[in-house]
Amino acid sequence: MNYIRNLRKPFTYIFSLSFIGMITVLFSCKTPNPSFEIQHLENEQSIVRIEKAQKYLLLPIEEASGESQLFVIVDNGVVQTLHVRLAVNNIDYFVPIDLSVFTSKHISFKIQHIVDSAICWNEIKLSDTFDTANREPFRPTYHFSPPYGWMNDPNGMVYKDGEYHLFYQYNPYGSMWGNMHWGHAVSKDLVSWEHLLVAIAPDSLGTIFSGSAVVDKDNTAGFGAGAIIAIYTSAGERQTQSMAYSLDNGRNFTKYDCNPIIIADIPDFRDPKVFWHTETNRWILILAAGQEMQLYSSSNLKEWTYESNFGVGEGAHGGVWECPDLIELPVEGSNQKKWVLICNLNPGGPFGGSATQYFVGSFNGKSFINESPQITKWMDWGKDHYATVTWSNAPDNRSIAIAWMSNWQYANNVPTQQFRSANSLPRDLTLYTFNGETYLRNVPSAELETLRGKAENKRSFIVDRLYNIDKLMDSNTGSYEIEINITNNNAEVIGFRLFNSLGEEVDCYYNLLEKKFYMDRNTSGTISFSEDFPAITEAPVTSGKEMKLRLFVDKSSIEAFGDNGRFVMTNLVFPSESYNRISFYGKGGTYEVSTFNVYPLSITK
Ligand code: FRU
Repeated sequence: MNYIRNLRKPFTYIFSLSFIGMITVLFSCKTPNPSFEIQHLENEQSIVRIEKAQKYLLLPIEEASGESQLFVIVDNGVVQTLHVRLAVNNIDYFVPIDLSVFTSKHISFKIQHIVDSAICWNEIKLSDTFDTANREPFRPTYHFSPPYGWMNDPNGMVYKDGEYHLFYQYNPYGSMWGNMHWGHAVSKDLVSWEHLLVAIAPDSLGTIFSGSAVVDKDNTAGFGAGAIIAIYTSAGERQTQSMAYSLDNGRNFTKYDCNPIIIADIPDFRDPKVFWHTETNRWILILAAGQEMQLYSSSNLKEWTYESNFGVGEGAHGGVWECPDLIELPVEGSNQKKWVLICNLNPGGPFGGSATQYFVGSFNGKSFINESPQITKWMDWGKDHYATVTWSNAPDNRSIAIAWMSNWQYANNVPTQQFRSANSLPRDLTLYTFNGETYLRNVPSAELETLRGKAENKRSFIVDRLYNIDKLMDSNTGSYEIEINITNNNAEVIGFRLFNSLGEEVDCYYNLLEKKFYMDRNTSGTISFSEDFPAITEAPVTSGKEMKLRLFVDKSSIEAFGDNGRFVMTNLVFPSESYNRISFYGKGGTYEVSTFNVYPLSITK
């Protein structure tokens, strides 16, 4: 993300409240709710004083409002500073501040930059409940999304004791980027997720930006054998790296008392990913520094030694490098293993904005060498696949990646409100060789097959120009998988339009002369929220006569996995009703669709 353009304010904790005493009280009004009092002070400053607390203070939010500063004051000391878009003219939704975490009875809020006539003053309320039931037509069924509020990058993914942990960049105080915390969810099967409480909250060093987590099996850090150790960026006036540990499988984290652990005089210096390097018997940390990656080593996760950097003259540099990963993967059809450096880039992706590139090569415990410096390799060929990283400690030597399914060009403006953003599906990574080059294969994780209901529309057919299927499923919830195997006779273009009764459609086609697969979402539904949203994305295709495609459609996304994961394309779409028809077409010849299965997908647990 572009930090200058997006005005990210350092998060500060102030431990004295001398300024309150200097403010003249101009106006004080008893609100209709006797449990709190609102005082308007001069210069658009107000105080909300809680007299009889309930579990939550519910704040009315209007996304079009500017951010106001909200100081949480407990016993006359500021314990937290938030940036919230309080409603001035209209209320979009409410967000909760959990008051139950404060043991003291003396809680108040000082709010700056909101006019006395704003609608929020009549609407702020106390409540013992906060309703998170889904209210959104575009909330995915089987992709992970936060219960409410904003989410971006997946963070700290680690597997331990039968649980996949997913932490994520989270704003609990609005559905736009800000106030970064680590949200937390766990899953036993990568598909059904249980939401847990926020894991790591901002502190005096800053808000909590992206990072990773490891299981410290051998107690190298001294917090306890088996501790989950999170290493993340503290985003204050500068970006530094910090750590926190959990001795109860991620339910509670304690911050290390000597944070930060890595500092530098570089403005963009973040997103540490840590792994154990067996050959050199030590931890390696890779982080993004401007437009390069830096590597560090450590024996105890606390003290880090700079080893090397990577990036100058390598790959795409249209924007800042973020969220790195470095993993070793087997090369199919050989006994070889190679290292893959995953590098998220924003902007500068192939279709504008955010994207994930990767480099294949070797790593000797000190530095990474790219074996093909002349080639830029993209991990996913859609517009909505960013901040991709893999699970640490995954079972059976699996490398499982997940991405944030959005793009910084429009992520804050997509047409949802209660929540904003979902993750991609989990993908298992391996390497394959094509024309002497090594590439990533991304296969949908096998667990996704457990979501399948009974296949509908199982059939095969020949396409000679046009073949229409007027109903994909009897009852279409908008969440399904289409499995298509094609044998080409002599067609030059093989395509299908997925559409609904309103004429909203996504057009997918292979151009076999160009050896490319395309997805066109220009008329896919709601597109007007950003001029960067309408798009045609394209991927190189290596298959010849036989083509295999798995298309995962959810309420607001399509992920196409081609040729068993040789290419992937992830794009958001916002149709007014589910796409429930499909029309195959061909140009220049005929082809056979030998398999056409549609599986409704749902989470039953
Ligand atoms: C990537 C990113 C990271 C940063 C985080 C902040 O999307 O910009 O580099 O840590 O988001 O939310």
